[in-house]
Amino acid sequence: MPAYHFFAVCPRTLEPVLAEELRGLGAQNIKTNAGGVLFEGPLALAMAACLRSRYASRILLRIATRQYYDSHDIYDMAHVLPWERFFDSEAKIRVDVTAHRSPLESLDFTTLRIKDGICDHFREGCGKRPSIEKTDPDVRIHAFINERYCTFYLNLSGEPLFKRGWRVEKGEAPLKENMAAGLLALSGWTPDQPLLDPFCGSGTIAIEAAQIACGIAPGLNRSFGFEKLHIFDMQEWREMKEDAKAEVNLHAKLNIRASDISTIVVGKAQANAQRAGLQALLDDGRLSFSQCDAREVSPSSEKGFIVTNPPYGEQSNPKSATVGSMMKNVADNLKKQFSGWTAWMLTSDRKLPSQMRLSESRKIVIFNGPLECRFFKFEMVSGSFRSKKNQAQGS
Ligand SMILES: C[S@@+](CC[C@H](N)C(=O)[O-])C[C@H]1O[C@@H](n2cnc3c(N)ncnc32)[C@H](O)[C@@H]1O
Repeated sequence: MPAYHFFAVCPRTLEPVLAEELRGLGAQNIKTNAGGVLFEGPLALAMAACLRSRYASRILLRIATRQYYDSHDIYDMAHVLPWERFFDSEAKIRVDVTAHRSPLESLDFTTLRIKDGICDHFREGCGKRPSIEKTDPDVRIHAFINERYCTFYLNLSGEPLFKRGWRVEKGEAPLKENMAAGLLALSGWTPDQPLLDPFCGSGTIAIEAAQIACGIAPGLNRSFGFEKLHIFDMQEWREMKEDAKAEVNLHAKLNIRASDISTIVVGKAQANAQRAGLQALLDDGRLSFSQCDAREVSPSSEKGFIVTNPPYGEQSNPKSATVGSMMKNVADNLKKQFSGWTAWMLTSDRKLPSQMRLSESRKIVIFNGPLECRFFKFEMVSGSFRSKKNQAQGS
């Protein structure tokens, strides 16, 4: 079976987590890059990655790489590639170009030349050409251009993979679903441990966690770009989806709680969880959403994980000073009630540990979109509220 070359795009910092996930799906020759993972394997592997990857944003199939000197070379490359192997002249296509240190002057012009090359290829071959469609294309073509090489990819995911199909309702500054899954992986939480998100917003972290615990493949309820490409075996795809459906176990033992100060937002999170196929868990309380101020939330067990994304200055109103004092009160509550728990918090505010009068035991730099954030780990041991300095002074 021929090995195809793929690139899985992901949020920066999640590359090693994604590489492990792809290894588990059978990927070969895995190499991590900034912002993604290169891997090889059969086409079925790419379908499995679209269906099952919790961390990837997109899966791309590399179709050609060539050296270029100017935009004529890029036109020629687009013109000669055997596009009809993948789609026909009826397809609505979209072309996106990303350049890094490219000497080409205009990306818009380069994009246009690629579209011209593809359309001329079809027109000369069959007298008809694909149409260009920005918002809802059948086929998405990506060109990555560096100093000397141009690479063409077909986007196999279509809509980004973090769009699982269940998050219709959003709160303030929602996390992308693959970022939420990535935070859970980085935190070391496993489904046998209690989980709490006291700033749950639209419920992304709790819902991802519940889907992980129940073995619900993240792409089970959506379509993908590869379904419109000739080279994929749709019978094999249907069987793969049936297998994934059969793996779902809604009887998994778990304890996931999520809360937010806003009743409206809690309602949205609950509706999202229902759409995510988690009604059975909501019914018997293994997954719950409630209105609660994080300054007053209490634990449901002796030990567990908090994985959360509190409001921070750039995002919220009330202003950051208010958020800072609120986080001090949240920390007081955690210190009082949550000893034995491990708390992970994603924030863009580097001062969070000092606001909370807590020392982090780990810190991971992570990009939430363009925003450089810190994912802080706090071990809530009894007496963790006493800073080292105070202890030294015996106060
Ligand atoms: C950054 S958002 C969380 C987004 C969430 N991770 C998601 O994916 O939708 C922060 C949330 O904290 C909530 N919040 C603000 N102050 C709070 C408090 N004192 N207690 C509980 N929730 C609070 C806001 O209503 C908001 O939904």
